Amino acid sequence: MTVFPAAIAAVAALLALATLVAGGRHFAGDNGLLLPSEASRFFRPGGAADDDTGGESAGTRWAVLIAGSNGYWNYRHQADICHAYQLLKKGGLKDENIIVLMYDDISFNEENPRPGIIINSPHGEDVYEGVPKDYTGEDVTVDNFFAVILGNKTALSGGSGKVLDSGPNDHIFIYYSDHGGPGVLGMPTSPYLYANDLIEVLKKKHASGTYKSLVFYLEACESGSIFEGLLPEGLNIYATTAANAEESSWGTYCPGEDPSPPPEYETCLGDLYSVAWMEDSDVHNLRTETLRQQYELVKKRTANDNSVYGSHVMQYGDLNLNKEDLVLYMGTNPANDNYTYVDDNSLRLPSKAVNQRDADLVHFWDKFRKAPEGSPRKAEAQKQFLEAMSHRTHIDHAIKLVGRLLFGIKKGSEVLKTVRPAGQPLVDDWHCLKTLVRTFEAHCGSLSQYGMKHMRSIANICNAGIEKEQMAEASAQACVTIPPGPWSSLDKGFSA
Ligand SMILES: *[C@@H]1O[C@H](CO)[C@@H](O)[C@H](O)[C@H]1NC(C)=O
Ligand SMILES: *[C@@H]1O[C@H](CO)[C@@H](O)[C@H](O)[C@H]1NC(C)=O
Repeated sequence: MTVFPAAIAAVAALLALATLVAGGRHFAGDNGLLLPSEASRFFRPGGAADDDTGGESAGTRWAVLIAGSNGYWNYRHQADICHAYQLLKKGGLKDENIIVLMYDDISFNEENPRPGIIINSPHGEDVYEGVPKDYTGEDVTVDNFFAVILGNKTALSGGSGKVLDSGPNDHIFIYYSDHGGPGVLGMPTSPYLYANDLIEVLKKKHASGTYKSLVFYLEACESGSIFEGLLPEGLNIYATTAANAEESSWGTYCPGEDPSPPPEYETCLGDLYSVAWMEDSDVHNLRTETLRQQYELVKKRTANDNSVYGSHVMQYGDLNLNKEDLVLYMGTNPANDNYTYVDDNSLRLPSKAVNQRDADLVHFWDKFRKAPEGSPRKAEAQKQFLEAMSHRTHIDHAIKLVGRLLFGIKKGSEVLKTVRPAGQPLVDDWHCLKTLVRTFEAHCGSLSQYGMKHMRSIANICNAGIEKEQMAEASAQACVTIPPGPWSSLDKGFSA
């Protein structure tokens, strides 16, 4: 499908063949000479010149945007996704080519101080308006996400039926924002998503020959572990992640931070990596910024001066794709035509950020702090805070105990804490991991969003050769009963 006038592509092709001629590819009709540095963009090794311009007019841009959480304390993930939609829409993507999966419980949540509105930064505009409701509520599932990517309508259940109906010349952008853990990503429904299943789906998509290249931006804790040692080269997939395989990612614009959300918001508005790439894309001419330039900039901003409130942005897959311009995936907003990428982008680093895993506590605490003394709201916030805390204590304790029961007091904690060298996947036998997680949850209750942090420990238990029966015995000893709190309920986690 033709996105840009064929005339521009033709001019660009001439430029690529010939030397400097009058005419700019950025502004048709502008007869200024190309500077040598701009001209060199047409002579990249490996035929990238084609992608630079020809590709732009040849393929359709598709996007899949998915928020993996629900609950007002997770406001920021859906805010990220809505923001991404607005960005792509302004970039020229069509609604028929943008597929959105989000629970949709934020905009009209009773906690939302501005009903019907979602913002992704303290002074941000509404990003909710116009967002397609393709898959919402209980339709935001792993199965639907995979069916959307594969373009398999018969595998869908519920939702609008929109899928990646892409062809061999098309470019695909997938953006996911939520909680995660080593080898896993959250979903607002159960079960959660395992890395190896996602990689299989991406391989299948590649085998179907229905894209030219695919870019995956991923915000989650330990998001590097989704691709580390798992995503092969040669699939024409380039991925960047908010964090490496071993660390948390960060919420931002949280209560008590600088910059902080408007005072009536008791929740984080965005995530550090996510707002870094979107606020960059929002203002630039994306024909003049490459994926690599954005990666470098986002990496710098998300590291947050290497403070403890930051993470290491990573890249995986076919790194040569990062020479391409962002416009291939995100389009570009014509209003930004004169704002080219500048390296020393004046970044405002946040004073601090909130660990993804603690952002729910920040919400409950802020709600508690602000609620009038003796009010039902105060009591409710206190209850929510204590429930979250007691689930954490329970899960941390149970995992530790299981490790000790299986390996002994000293060796137990060593096994649980082992981190494999970079480049290796978390676990060799994913079936074992899934089985042991289910076995643990059957006795100890759901890991739920916080408990995903322990996936590496369970993976290590598999790597040590523990079988299901041994795990069942240890879990039964560690957890006499499943605690009654909402976080332990078996409809949250991996087991459904
Ligand atoms: C689509 O999904 C259905 C149902 O899960 C499955 O039977 C079928 O094989 C899938 N088709 C393709 C082309 O993968
Ligand atoms: C960009 O700059 C040119 C030349 O100054 C001007 O004519 C054009 O209107 C500007 N475009 C935008 C979108 O501001």
